[in-house]
Amino acid sequence: MMPSRIALFISGRGSNMTAIAEHIRDGSLSAEIAFVAADREGAPGIETARTLGLPTVVCSYAELGRERAERALAAAVHEHLASWIVLAGFMRVLSASFVHEFAERIVNIHPSLLPAFPGSEAIRQAWDYGVKVTGVTVHLVDERVDHGPILAQAAVPIEENDTPARLEERIHCVEHDLYWRCLKDLLEGRFTKTGRRRMRREHP
Ligand code: GRF
Repeated sequence: MMPSRIALFISGRGSNMTAIAEHIRDGSLSAEIAFVAADREGAPGIETARTLGLPTVVCSYAELGRERAERALAAAVHEHLASWIVLAGFMRVLSASFVHEFAERIVNIHPSLLPAFPGSEAIRQAWDYGVKVTGVTVHLVDERVDHGPILAQAAVPIEENDTPARLEERIHCVEHDLYWRCLKDLLEGRFTKTGRRRMRREHP
């Protein structure tokens, strides 16, 4: 079977992108990175992507505005024949029309146990709230922020000697392990669908 082609959308340092790229390189995830896109010039992850030899696309929201930037992103997805869009720290809310165009084919990772603490600053909000367990969620993207069907979650307990920085670091470690495993299941067609529920089955 031909590996699925994925488009990675980033805004920041791209550590999740790098983790996914490493698992593709070592053969644990059968996929091809069609391209890496950023919403702004100077996203550090774009430099990393170039170093990794990945095709890159910058669709500057600041210069183009959301509508044109999204059209450029959609065009890149079609042009590079990507079947999946993998958001990895992409700090823009995708419009309903973009989401509908790629329905059930956009995945996101979020640093909390959704539906708790959606939006940016999730780690800080969980910390300030004083929860004893937080975590990571991988979900399909729908037209609402951090709301689509959940594919996978992993819990991260808050430890006695934690600091916000230490918690953040542990959450990122969990992200780097959860995302590629979940993508593997998704690309292999292992999820069944009942309403919002997505269940993983052993044999597709
Ligand atoms: C991660 O915490 C992810 O859950 C959130 O944005 C962050 C991206 O980090 N959506 P990185 O750019 O992959 O290092």
